[in-house]
Amino acid sequence: MLRPLIAGNWKMNTNIHQGVELVIRLRELLKGVDAVEVLLAPPFTSIYHLSHLVADSPIRLCGQNLFWEKSGAFTGEISGDMLKTAGCDYVIIGHSERREYFKESDETVNKKVVAAIRDGLKPIICVGETLEEREKGKSISKVKLQVKKALAGLPGGALRDITLAYEPIWAIGTGKTASPEEAEEVHNALRELLFEMFDTDSLKNTRIIYGGSVKADNIDSLMSQPNIDGALVGGASLKAEDFARIVKFLPR
Ligand code: PGA
Repeated sequence: MLRPLIAGNWKMNTNIHQGVELVIRLRELLKGVDAVEVLLAPPFTSIYHLSHLVADSPIRLCGQNLFWEKSGAFTGEISGDMLKTAGCDYVIIGHSERREYFKESDETVNKKVVAAIRDGLKPIICVGETLEEREKGKSISKVKLQVKKALAGLPGGALRDITLAYEPIWAIGTGKTASPEEAEEVHNALRELLFEMFDTDSLKNTRIIYGGSVKADNIDSLMSQPNIDGALVGGASLKAEDFARIVKFLPR
């Protein structure tokens, strides 16, 4: 089994000075951490500079998005190779904010997943249901379909490098977290889906992490669930003390 993964998604926050300050503080707070894999996803413009600051620390870097073409006339886009050579090991794909504001579809998510693996990046694929879908009892069918489409055409071996992030849309940035039991139910269903789609051997290293208002005061109970392998943290990752406490979760 892989170590749990705690990832901080800074979204469109922090200029380069603020990013440096945050990383310097986190480096101090996370000294010696090795039981957990720690990731930060800063804005593109800070990645290369921060890659030097995290070199001797447990922190690794992650892109917030990528484009699937290798290079060319795609103004404003960033390729996997650009992320990789700037210092990223991972990339977030299909975050609900990208799906909502930038009209990303399950098909473009799939293209991005394929491109990330081609370019040597580990994708963190986000899925999640709206409040309306949850109230209609459709949470599990929605996220299963998103995962099936995101992984379409991939060989089982590719799963080694993939992380799924269950992020109920109604819990993102709202202060409402799924209860540990609600999250566990979905994670368990996703784990079963992966077993249906791929062979057991490919799945040993596939993590399913939870995102949506993860905070210092709810991480312990979330991480006590058997199928929650980590967290994708938005708002709380912008405060060094809070994020460090989340990384040092105490499963109950
Ligand atoms: P939040 O964001 O922790 O601020 O709810 C989570 C995410 O969008 O990944």
